[in-house]
Amino acid sequence: MERPISEPGPGQVRIRVEACGICHSDAATVTGTYPGLTLPRVPGHEVVGRVDALGSGVSRWKIGQRVGVGLIAGEDGTCEPCRRGDSVNCQNPVVSGVTVDGGYAEMMIAEARGLASIPDELSSAEAAPLLCAGITTYNALRNAGLRGGDLVAVQGIGGLGHLGIQFARHMGFHTVAIGRGSDKEKLAKDLGAHVYIDTAVGDAAALLQSMGGARAVLATAPSGDSMGSLVSGLAVRGKLIVLGVPRDQIHLNASPLVFGGRSVYGSLTGTAIDQEDTLAFSVLEDIRPMIETAPLEQAADAYARMMQGKARFRMVLVTKNLKS
Ligand SMILES: NC(=O)c1ccc[n+]([C@@H]2O[C@H](COP(=O)([O-])OP(=O)(O)OC[C@H]3O[C@@H](n4cnc5c(N)ncnc54)[C@H](OP(=O)(O)O)[C@@H]3O)[C@@H](O)[C@H]2O)c1
Ligand SMILES: [Zn+2]
Ligand SMILES: [Zn+2]
Repeated sequence: MERPISEPGPGQVRIRVEACGICHSDAATVTGTYPGLTLPRVPGHEVVGRVDALGSGVSRWKIGQRVGVGLIAGEDGTCEPCRRGDSVNCQNPVVSGVTVDGGYAEMMIAEARGLASIPDELSSAEAAPLLCAGITTYNALRNAGLRGGDLVAVQGIGGLGHLGIQFARHMGFHTVAIGRGSDKEKLAKDLGAHVYIDTAVGDAAALLQSMGGARAVLATAPSGDSMGSLVSGLAVRGKLIVLGVPRDQIHLNASPLVFGGRSVYGSLTGTAIDQEDTLAFSVLEDIRPMIETAPLEQAADAYARMMQGKARFRMVLVTKNLKS
């Protein structure tokens, strides 16, 4: 649809969007299930574009500068987690595509404090998926207290998982990819997995135990049913890090949690400075998302392709702004 171009308010910028990745979490906007969502709403939180106008009080960013916006795109700075320096867990956040309009658009208004600078080495289309799929897996890995050589598994080989495999490999972990079916085995190994586990033919937990047990498993599949049994594949003190947000429940057996001190916890994307760390690490280690681009006008088809699990591995919408 056509909408009037709005002006940025105090502390905001207007962005001329060049590219926006399609994350599985966009489904919570499309289906109206994201907590706090108000409609109508433009989805999209893997946004890269150029600053087009500055609101009052914005000095850090310049017109024409290339910037990115992720999911958590502004904290209130006053709630308890914010006051403790944990702004990603702000209790009243600006959430792109949920509390404010996101990046499936030619223009977007964003909070200046939530922007990340995009390095010249990355094209807009390849930077976009790093702003949610990338940061989510990168932060989960680097904050898990792991050491080089640890056995780390990534379950679910989609937008998040295909980047998680690359990050795990480049951070120096013994990297296992867990998928359902044989079709992604070669892709997973090309992305850097040392080992591929196909849950259609093998028991992932038993296979991880036969390798000594995983120090961490990143669970990215949008399926709670597939996550709980992975606890039994963890080493003593191992961690199941829940990144996927399935609608169904995760069922857990208490024994491997208690006997061995294993744990299960979630991890939510990251902050703007974490975005810049993710981008810098990707440039440093030559990590790129595998993407399929589609023009913004085909957003509905591209979204459907992601939901059907056909994307290899991230659909990225590109706008006419990219050529100008
Ligand atoms: N924690 C966060 O901050 C955060 C950030 C972004 C996204 N998310 C959430 O993370 C999840 C994944 O997002 P995404 O963008 O990566 O989605 P995606 O691109 O659709 O990938 C999901 C992958 O999971 C695989 N899968 C589904 N069921 C599976 C199962 N039972 N066993 C193994 N693999 C399975 C699918 O592969 P096949 O169908 O081919 O098997 C698909 O490739 C979503 O729930 C999303 O909302 C969370
Ligand atoms: Zn996302
Ligand atoms: Zn807050």
